[in-house]
Amino acid sequence: TIAVLDFGSQYTQVIARRLREFHVYSKVYRFDTPASELKADGVNGIILSGGPSSVFSESAPMPDPDLFSLEVPVLGICYGLQLLGRILGGKVEKSTEREYGRGTLNILNKSALFKDLPDEIQVWNSHGDRLIELPAGFMTIGKTENSDFAAIENRDRRIFGLQFHPEVFHTERGTDIIRNFLIDICQCKGDWTMAGYIEMSVEKIRKTVGDRHVILGLSGGVDSSVAAALIHRAIGEQLTCVFVDNGLLRKDEVQAVEKLFGDNFHMNLVVSRTADLFLDKLVGVTDPERKRKIIGNTFVEVFEQEVEKIGEVDFLAQGTIYPDVIESVPIGGNPAALIKSHHNVGGLPERMKLKILEPLNQLFKDEVRRLGEELGLPKSVVWRQPFPGPGLAVRIIGDITPERLRIVREADAILMEEMKAEDYYYKVWQSFAVFLPVQSVGVMGDERTYDFVIALRIVESIDAMTADWARLPHEFLQKVSNRIINEVQGVNRVVLDISSKPPSTIEWE
Ligand code: XMP
Repeated sequence: TIAVLDFGSQYTQVIARRLREFHVYSKVYRFDTPASELKADGVNGIILSGGPSSVFSESAPMPDPDLFSLEVPVLGICYGLQLLGRILGGKVEKSTEREYGRGTLNILNKSALFKDLPDEIQVWNSHGDRLIELPAGFMTIGKTENSDFAAIENRDRRIFGLQFHPEVFHTERGTDIIRNFLIDICQCKGDWTMAGYIEMSVEKIRKTVGDRHVILGLSGGVDSSVAAALIHRAIGEQLTCVFVDNGLLRKDEVQAVEKLFGDNFHMNLVVSRTADLFLDKLVGVTDPERKRKIIGNTFVEVFEQEVEKIGEVDFLAQGTIYPDVIESVPIGGNPAALIKSHHNVGGLPERMKLKILEPLNQLFKDEVRRLGEELGLPKSVVWRQPFPGPGLAVRIIGDITPERLRIVREADAILMEEMKAEDYYYKVWQSFAVFLPVQSVGVMGDERTYDFVIALRIVESIDAMTADWARLPHEFLQKVSNRIINEVQGVNRVVLDISSKPPSTIEWE
């Protein structure tokens, strides 16, 4: 394992990511993790990330100084280099401004870190304070226009510092520098695989859980499904999954979950059939945020009742993945790791004294998908499009009625079927139908109709922050439109949403 100590850099995730690309297992730790813990985890190298603080600030995040005595290689990046200077006895000069941008690094002293690199490379700088005097035992291995100590090394102790960021794309040959650190200096084997990860996680889950019981809220989405499969692999019967049928799911979704997790995986699966409860509370509600609130609160209520019915439960498992974990390194105050609140089932862990189990919290989305595949989950689950927690409630504009649910559900099923048939489903980010409470005139056979409108929303996106409508062939759209109008009673018009995000959003509510 390579430990990445997080001092609050926006690039910490990128570092962890780069290491995995070399098939080296990396784990992000809080900046102040005790050296003894790193040792216990068997780390064979430590990277100190950059960070926004100044080492002179009173609240500057400081690592455990003992980590320099673990006799494993250490690489300090940016703020990490200044920490080396500060802690190991060099001199750092306070700077009032931060400096960003490209620079040219002249490699002076061939270091193992710069193996196979040319004498000059373009690097990406972003730094505030600067090192002006080397700590004892260090030498300069590279300098830039602005700094005589842009790259430093203590050869005996295998401690390195870089003023620039090797992990960012703009640094030429940055990946070679990282490779040299991992493979040559830390002597990582680069043999980390998903199968190995499963083995390690299974062992860890078994050790953590012992003979106690775990509950997991299964949504049918990628993250909770993969978490369920992994935990089930580890502890089998000691895991119970709760799937809440809130009446706002897509066609055949409940059956699919029962079939996969119940019949195929033989998991303890509780399906909470509480559609009426949700739908009753939503009668007459049109405001999108109120819909969300009601659904969220009712979910917590239902989930809590299910947990009580199950009885002896010690852990609440969640499919939290790495990007959901915001490790905050605040300037002063309490440096606690914050978790996006939507992943916590409304304070349930505190109220019911449940411990949290998050076996995916070191993984990126694509790694979660690979893990899911390795665990035997089907493509339809592992590569499934995102679906909002409030479900079809936010895809019916205005009032939610059983009739409108039927319409949007059927239209959505037709779109999904055609998207899969033409192989578009896995190529776009999301594709779904939206019910518009608008009636318009049509003619079917000899009869005049006055029916509702379905809007098709099909978007491409990388991260849901921005999105654009997918340019699918007219013939395809025509087919979907015809089928919806012919097959879904109550619809006589289909429109295509051609808005981008921003200024629109992906969902209509
Ligand atoms: P918007 O509509 O904001 O959606 O562009 C961005 C992404 O988030 C999903 N989404 C939600 N997911 N609960 C969720 O779990 C919600 O209330 C919610 N609203 C939007 C949306 O499907 C898209 O992927």
